[in-house]
Amino acid sequence: MLEASLLLFCFLLPLLLIVFKVFSSDAHKSNPFTVNFRSIYANRHHIIQWISEVVNNSPTLTIIITRPFSQNRVMTANPAVVHHILQTNFSTYPKGEMIRTTLSDLLGEGIFNVDGDSWKFQRQISSHEFSTKSLRHFVEDVVDFELNQRLIPMLTTAAANHTVLDLQDILQRFTFDNICKIAFGYDPGYLTSSLAKPEFAVAFEDAVRIIIQRFLVLTPILWKIKRFLNVGSEKRLSEAVSEIQRFAREILNERKRELAHKSPVDSGDLLSRFISYGYSDEKLLMDIVISFILAGRDTTSAALTWFLWLLFKNPAIESEIVREIKEISDSPGYDEVKDMVYTHASLCESMRLYPPVPLNSKVLDRIF
Ligand code: HEM
Repeated sequence: MLEASLLLFCFLLPLLLIVFKVFSSDAHKSNPFTVNFRSIYANRHHIIQWISEVVNNSPTLTIIITRPFSQNRVMTANPAVVHHILQTNFSTYPKGEMIRTTLSDLLGEGIFNVDGDSWKFQRQISSHEFSTKSLRHFVEDVVDFELNQRLIPMLTTAAANHTVLDLQDILQRFTFDNICKIAFGYDPGYLTSSLAKPEFAVAFEDAVRIIIQRFLVLTPILWKIKRFLNVGSEKRLSEAVSEIQRFAREILNERKRELAHKSPVDSGDLLSRFISYGYSDEKLLMDIVISFILAGRDTTSAALTWFLWLLFKNPAIESEIVREIKEISDSPGYDEVKDMVYTHASLCESMRLYPPVPLNSKVLDRIF
């Protein structure tokens, strides 16, 4: 017994020392471009501001994040480096294993969580969504209906009755209806339903919050143990993901029912396109649905919420935008919207100040 304990001690002690050494190593501090994960952990409560400052203080506007037992990652605010990573050398900078494992419970094999061929296929099919024809349909049919039949009447009634609305919630409903219609040919009608938060929205917000928290624990082992034991936030995550998957399955089944009567080409939505390209695995199609909800809902609504807040703070800009809209058309279509240069610039400036996706990183497997 004593021998066994000694043996265990002899094995465990060096192991603990190695782990302690790796976690407490200051070696990376000497390099001004390199940030040890411990610093990120220490600043996790104001992570966006902190990383922005560190990146802006780096001479190249670029940092490398190191973490024990994990691949190095790169973050940048340098347009030339963004171009290098996303345009000229895209395949050299994958999302990587750490992102994959951390997000997999929510995003599965959806476009946001894959690299290589799977990413390429999904990207190819998704890119139709951003063709001029699709965008025209998006602006002139889907958004136009949602605006004129739902959002504007709701805001007009609230203004007449002096009702206070939570604009962020309203805009999330607006973008959610839009993204579901354009991507899945499905109308959830969230903007018309009662203003109590739908179960799906609560589940989605909880799931995204908890999954992001996974990135900010000292070691992934901690959330993995909680997930294994199904306790605390990980228990809630698993419930929320079940709710989200139930919703995604409902969308998918409805689409399949409709496709039994008409061709995917006539449907024109993204989900029908995936089905027509031979994607038949139910879980993968559900993952694709969930990735697109994530892509379209919070990004666009966050952009609109900040934009309207900034207009409220800057009435002179608001007047200029109103002037431009009135000057161009009473009911602008796709071509008129494209000509709204001042409004476009204001939206870009608003997203520069308050980016809807403030942080992103890629794997860096070599240093140039
Ligand atoms: C203000 C609105 C939006 C912002 C700020 C935004 C921002 C982003 C960012 C930062 C990425 C990550 C790029 C990367 O890691 O390479 C991304 C990816 C993506 N977004 Fe958006 N997005 C917005 C709206 C949308 C909408 C409405 C859709 C869908 C209709 C969409 C679909 C996608 C898709 C499919 C990807 C994955 C692309 C890929 O991995 O190649 N986004 N978006």
